[in-house]
Amino acid sequence: MKTINQILDVKGNQVYVTTPETCVIDAVKEMAKMKCGALIVLQESDIVGVITEQDFTRRVLLNDLDTNKTKVGEVMSSEVAVIEPQKTVSEGMAIMTDKRIRHLPVIDSNNDLIGIISIGDLVKEVIAEQETIIGQLEQYIHS
Ligand SMILES: NC(=O)c1ccc[n+]([C@@H]2O[C@H](COP(=O)([O-])OP(=O)(O)OC[C@H]3O[C@@H](n4cnc5c(N)ncnc54)[C@H](O)[C@@H]3O)[C@@H](O)[C@H]2O)c1
Repeated sequence: MKTINQILDVKGNQVYVTTPETCVIDAVKEMAKMKCGALIVLQESDIVGVITEQDFTRRVLLNDLDTNKTKVGEVMSSEVAVIEPQKTVSEGMAIMTDKRIRHLPVIDSNNDLIGIISIGDLVKEVIAEQETIIGQLEQYIHS
């Protein structure tokens, strides 16, 4: 089973971020521009939250909040689950399933933000591993 670090080796270490003072509409525009469903919220260099497309639809749109006046800090999720790079794909999936979240910032031993993984990244990896195993089993059966 691959580690989170191995996924980042392929995906890269780029993390798109925002701040609590940013208007939610600008955060959503950033997500659309970067083709991602979440932004990590930083105050100076500390992680203070995560804002996702789901936060936007449920907390902003459904409550009829003004997208130009509401700040990220008012609607973000402040409890941020993180994962260490040496953890496995399966451990990442377990955290996401348990906490019902779809993104995990990756934090190294110095507490530095070194990447982010999404549920899509992990599912893609699980499918690739299963395809490899199926291929090996087929070869074994036909040999
Ligand atoms: N992740 C994939 O490899 C992938 C591939 C094809 C299609 N999709 C589809 O896209 C949709 C959502 O995918 P998802 O679950 O991967 O979520 P997502 O749209 O948030 O993530 C898309 C990609 O952007 C990255 N990403 C997300 N937030 C980021 C951030 N703040 N900074 C840097 N990178 C960030 C993710 O790690 C992932 O690689 C699903 O419908 C899925 O089927 C995903």
